[in-house]
Amino acid sequence: MKRNILLHPDPRLKKVCAPVHDVTDEMQRLAADMLETMYDAPGIGLAAPQVGVLSCLIVLDCVKQDGTDPQPIVMFNPEVISRSEETSVYDEGCLSVPEHYAEVIRPAEVEVSWMDQNGIARQKVFANLWATCVQHEIDHLNGKLFIDYLGPIKRQMITRKMQKLKRKKA
Ligand code: NI
Repeated sequence: MKRNILLHPDPRLKKVCAPVHDVTDEMQRLAADMLETMYDAPGIGLAAPQVGVLSCLIVLDCVKQDGTDPQPIVMFNPEVISRSEETSVYDEGCLSVPEHYAEVIRPAEVEVSWMDQNGIARQKVFANLWATCVQHEIDHLNGKLFIDYLGPIKRQMITRKMQKLKRKKA
Protein backbone atom coordinates (compact mmCIF):
# COMPACT_ATOMS: atom_id res chain seq x y z
CA MET A 1 0.00 0.00 0.00
CA LYS A 2 1.36 3.37 -1.00
CA ARG A 3 1.82 5.87 1.80
CA ASN A 4 1.69 9.62 1.84
CA ILE A 5 5.09 11.34 1.77
CA LEU A 6 5.41 14.25 4.20
CA LEU A 7 6.70 17.48 2.75
CA HIS A 8 9.19 19.83 4.37
CA PRO A 9 8.63 21.80 6.57
CA ASP A 10 7.02 19.30 8.94
CA PRO A 11 7.95 18.82 12.60
CA ARG A 12 8.01 15.02 12.13
CA LEU A 13 10.94 15.41 9.71
CA LYS A 14 12.99 17.06 12.46
CA LYS A 15 12.67 14.30 15.08
CA VAL A 16 15.19 11.69 16.17
CA CYS A 17 13.67 8.25 15.47
CA ALA A 18 13.37 5.35 17.90
CA PRO A 19 15.37 2.13 17.38
CA VAL A 20 13.44 -0.96 16.24
CA HIS A 21 13.89 -3.96 18.55
CA ASP A 22 11.74 -6.54 16.75
CA VAL A 23 10.87 -6.84 13.09
CA THR A 24 7.16 -7.31 13.71
CA ASP A 25 4.57 -7.95 10.99
CA GLU A 26 3.70 -4.28 11.24
CA MET A 27 7.33 -3.32 10.58
CA GLN A 28 7.54 -5.74 7.63
CA ARG A 29 4.39 -4.18 6.19
CA LEU A 30 5.79 -0.69 6.69
CA ALA A 31 9.03 -1.65 4.87
CA ALA A 32 7.07 -3.13 1.95
CA ASP A 33 4.85 -0.02 1.80
CA MET A 34 7.88 2.24 1.86
CA LEU A 35 9.50 0.37 -1.05
CA GLU A 36 6.28 0.62 -3.04
CA THR A 37 6.02 4.34 -2.24
CA MET A 38 9.68 4.92 -3.16
CA TYR A 39 9.50 3.09 -6.52
CA ASP A 40 6.25 4.84 -7.37
CA ALA A 41 7.58 8.35 -6.60
CA PRO A 42 10.10 7.48 -8.16
CA GLY A 43 13.02 7.76 -5.77
CA ILE A 44 16.14 5.83 -4.74
CA GLY A 45 15.67 6.01 -0.97
CA LEU A 46 13.03 6.64 1.67
CA ALA A 47 13.11 6.91 5.46
CA ALA A 48 10.23 6.02 7.81
CA PRO A 49 9.81 9.59 9.17
CA GLN A 50 9.02 10.67 5.60
CA VAL A 51 5.83 8.61 5.85
CA GLY A 52 5.19 9.86 9.38
CA VAL A 53 6.59 6.88 11.33
CA LEU A 54 9.32 7.84 13.79
CA SER A 55 11.15 4.49 13.76
CA CYS A 56 14.68 3.72 12.55
CA LEU A 57 13.89 2.20 9.17
CA ILE A 58 15.11 3.13 5.71
CA VAL A 59 14.73 1.52 2.29
CA LEU A 60 16.88 2.12 -0.77
CA ASP A 61 17.57 0.93 -4.27
CA CYS A 62 20.15 2.88 -6.23
CA VAL A 63 20.07 0.72 -9.37
CA LYS A 64 18.85 3.16 -11.95
CA GLN A 65 19.61 1.58 -15.33
CA ASP A 66 16.67 0.23 -17.26
CA GLY A 67 16.60 -3.48 -17.73
CA THR A 68 18.51 -4.17 -14.50
CA ASP A 69 16.90 -6.15 -11.73
CA PRO A 70 15.87 -4.06 -8.74
CA GLN A 71 18.07 -4.33 -5.66
CA PRO A 72 15.90 -3.22 -2.76
CA ILE A 73 17.61 -2.99 0.62
CA VAL A 74 15.67 -2.70 3.89
CA MET A 75 17.62 -1.44 6.89
CA PHE A 76 16.47 -1.26 10.49
CA ASN A 77 18.69 0.76 12.86
CA PRO A 78 21.30 1.58 10.19
CA GLU A 79 24.48 3.16 11.51
CA VAL A 80 27.62 4.42 9.81
CA ILE A 81 30.46 2.58 11.54
CA SER A 82 33.32 3.98 9.45
CA ARG A 83 33.78 6.56 6.73
CA SER A 84 36.46 7.30 4.15
CA GLU A 85 38.50 10.49 4.36
CA GLU A 86 37.96 10.90 0.67
CA THR A 87 34.79 12.83 -0.09
CA SER A 88 32.47 13.08 -3.05
CA VAL A 89 29.95 15.68 -4.16
CA TYR A 90 26.49 14.79 -5.37
CA ASP A 91 23.58 16.93 -6.49
CA GLU A 92 21.08 15.65 -3.93
CA GLY A 93 17.32 15.80 -3.89
CA CYS A 94 14.68 14.45 -1.50
CA LEU A 95 11.11 13.23 -1.91
CA SER A 96 10.16 15.49 1.02
CA VAL A 97 11.72 18.52 -0.72
CA PRO A 98 10.55 17.92 -4.30
CA GLU A 99 12.06 19.84 -7.20
CA HIS A 100 14.96 21.24 -5.17
CA TYR A 101 18.50 19.99 -5.64
CA ALA A 102 21.81 21.04 -4.14
CA GLU A 103 25.36 19.77 -4.01
CA VAL A 104 26.29 18.08 -0.74
CA ILE A 105 29.79 16.91 0.21
CA ARG A 106 29.93 13.59 2.06
CA PRO A 107 32.44 10.80 2.68
CA ALA A 108 32.85 8.88 -0.60
CA GLU A 109 32.62 5.47 1.11
CA VAL A 110 30.92 4.39 4.31
CA GLU A 111 30.62 1.12 6.15
CA VAL A 112 27.11 0.63 7.51
CA SER A 113 25.71 -1.86 10.02
CA TRP A 114 21.99 -2.63 10.19
CA MET A 115 19.39 -5.29 10.89
CA ASP A 116 17.69 -6.71 7.80
CA GLN A 117 13.99 -7.59 7.31
CA ASN A 118 14.64 -11.04 8.80
CA GLY A 119 16.17 -9.58 11.94
CA ILE A 120 19.70 -10.56 10.89
CA ALA A 121 22.66 -8.24 11.60
CA ARG A 122 24.37 -7.08 8.41
CA GLN A 123 27.38 -4.95 7.55
CA LYS A 124 28.58 -3.62 4.21
CA VAL A 125 30.73 -0.97 2.57
CA PHE A 126 28.88 1.36 0.20
CA ALA A 127 30.43 3.57 -2.48
CA ASN A 128 29.29 5.98 -5.20
CA LEU A 129 25.56 6.75 -5.32
CA TRP A 130 24.79 4.04 -2.73
CA ALA A 131 27.09 5.79 -0.23
CA THR A 132 25.44 9.16 -0.80
CA CYS A 133 21.95 7.69 -0.59
CA VAL A 134 22.49 5.62 2.56
CA GLN A 135 24.01 8.63 4.38
CA HIS A 136 21.14 10.87 3.25
CA GLU A 137 18.56 8.34 4.51
CA ILE A 138 20.34 7.77 7.84
CA ASP A 139 20.33 11.57 8.32
CA HIS A 140 16.53 11.46 8.09
CA LEU A 141 16.46 9.18 11.16
CA ASN A 142 18.29 11.91 13.06
CA GLY A 143 15.92 14.66 11.94
CA LYS A 144 18.36 15.99 9.37
CA LEU A 145 17.58 16.96 5.77
CA PHE A 146 20.08 17.56 2.95
CA ILE A 147 19.20 21.25 2.99
CA ASP A 148 20.64 21.43 6.52
CA TYR A 149 24.07 21.17 4.85
CA LEU A 150 23.43 24.37 2.89
CA GLY A 151 24.03 27.94 3.97
CA PRO A 152 21.16 29.66 5.82
CA ILE A 153 20.15 31.87 2.88
CA LYS A 154 19.78 29.02 0.41
CA ARG A 155 18.06 26.84 3.02
CA GLN A 156 15.55 29.57 3.91
CA MET A 157 14.84 30.20 0.25
CA ILE A 158 14.00 26.53 -0.31
CA THR A 159 11.92 26.40 2.89
CA ARG A 160 9.89 29.45 1.83
CA LYS A 161 9.22 27.94 -1.60
CA MET A 162 8.15 24.68 0.05
CA GLN A 163 5.77 26.55 2.41
CA LYS A 164 4.22 28.20 -0.62
CA LEU A 165 3.88 24.85 -2.41
CA LYS A 166 2.24 23.29 0.64
CA ARG A 167 -0.25 26.17 0.94
CA LYS A 168 -1.14 25.71 -2.72
CA LYS A 169 -1.67 21.97 -2.21
CA ALA A 170 -3.72 22.39 0.98
NI1 NI B 1 15.40 12.51 1.66
